[in-house]
Amino acid sequence: MDKFYITTPIYYTNAKPHIGHAYTTVACDVLARWNRLQGKETFFLTGTDEHGAKIEKKAKEEGREPQEFVDEIAAVFVDLWKRLNISNDGFIRTTSPQHKAAVRKVLQTLYDNGSIYKGTYKGLYCVGCEQFKSENELVDGKCPDHNAVPEEMEEECYLMKMNKWQNTLIEKIKSDEFKIQPERYKKEILSFLESQKLEDVSISRKNLAWGIPLPFDNEHTTYVWIDAFLNYLTGLGWDGDLKNVPAMWPAEVEMLGKDILRVHATIWAATLLNLGIELPKSFFIHGHILSGGKKMSKTLGNVIGIDEMLEKFGVDGTRYLLMSGGTFGDDLDLTMERMTEKYNNDLANGLGNLVSRVIKLGEKVDIGTMDILKITENDKRYPKIDQSILLIDKFEIDGAIQHIWDLVRGDNRFIEDNKPWELAKSDEEKFNEVMSKLLSDLSVIAHLLKPFMPETSEKIRTALETRKAEPLFQRIK
Ligand code: MSP
Repeated sequence: MDKFYITTPIYYTNAKPHIGHAYTTVACDVLARWNRLQGKETFFLTGTDEHGAKIEKKAKEEGREPQEFVDEIAAVFVDLWKRLNISNDGFIRTTSPQHKAAVRKVLQTLYDNGSIYKGTYKGLYCVGCEQFKSENELVDGKCPDHNAVPEEMEEECYLMKMNKWQNTLIEKIKSDEFKIQPERYKKEILSFLESQKLEDVSISRKNLAWGIPLPFDNEHTTYVWIDAFLNYLTGLGWDGDLKNVPAMWPAEVEMLGKDILRVHATIWAATLLNLGIELPKSFFIHGHILSGGKKMSKTLGNVIGIDEMLEKFGVDGTRYLLMSGGTFGDDLDLTMERMTEKYNNDLANGLGNLVSRVIKLGEKVDIGTMDILKITENDKRYPKIDQSILLIDKFEIDGAIQHIWDLVRGDNRFIEDNKPWELAKSDEEKFNEVMSKLLSDLSVIAHLLKPFMPETSEKIRTALETRKAEPLFQRIK
């Protein structure tokens, strides 16, 4: 059986989840559900990244023990994914004993095979990024992502060899053996790799207690990114032993925001190469959600809360609005006003209206003979299904939604043009013909909606089976 292993990045537990986290996770959920429906053996992993300076600092500020602090925030993530109907098969926490033991085993392997050596590292460290920054990455001396001056740091540490993998990486990325999508990000990372020598990276911290102690030197803890990357393997239950690399590995796709591409394409990839483990088959890089054209910030007061969205638009409304708000891969500009308008147009008037009209008009049609409820995955009778598969397989998530709504809008127009309520009285044969198209389209729509709006899809199917429709979406004032 074909397999499909998909991962989200693991989210920092320094603060509660936000709409950006929800965006990535819903996108992966759509892809996971879709691939499960295609009959692939699917594993969908998400989780939380719980060590490091940023989190230690935050816990201290709140006067809490780090473990107790991350336990609380990790629980909020788990709960949010439940509320958003996320179908993840695993949830990995980097403070779990299994993960910690595996990380230590991996580091010992890297140390034993000569990939890690002792040295010192001097550089500018941005705690927000949990990364060293080179001068040319700074704008006015500040990290542009966190608008903060990085700290100068020089300490004894362990370093991992990077340089010998530079050409291997370039080749694998160029040939798409290690595929980076969309294409512009492949270009971006190639031009980075071709323009400078990869420096060895510090993989430990001497003065940071909140981390996994190195197995070969207790005075050091593991660099949080190395700890975090390994989640993609430990989340499958891996114990860190090279003989036991899980059968689901390599991941088909690791979904990443554009801010964390480089660290993945260099440090994560080199770690795997140093271990002799296959690279993920692909990365898909998505853009960021902006609000009113700007990065969301408390100061600007333009933060869109995920709880606020769920309250206003419900689960499927929120999933729909996140996935249809712009080209998947590009930055996405959202505002509550525009989303409310879209909700009313596409969901209350568009889909909701179609479902209630078709079910109402179809009350008296005998669908027993119509075969419309027996749609199968990949049904050749319905070209729309094939087209959707193509779009989703190319990560054109918004395109696939667009495609479903073409059908929704087309059918609403078809109803107005054909006036089936009049045909019912004047021309029974034509009426049955019109209703047969509408009922079978509705069945196709329910089918296509499965990965995007699972509950709505179920409700439409039930409506078709029982010939009764509850209103799906209430207009919002
Ligand atoms: N913990 C690291 C990832 C480790 S993966 C081995 C991390 N965590 S994060 O919580 O800061 O970010 C997680 C993901 O959320 C990133 O892919 C990031 O791009 C994404 N987003 C953060 N803000 C976002 C938006 N405003 N919009 C969309 N995605 C955003 O980085």
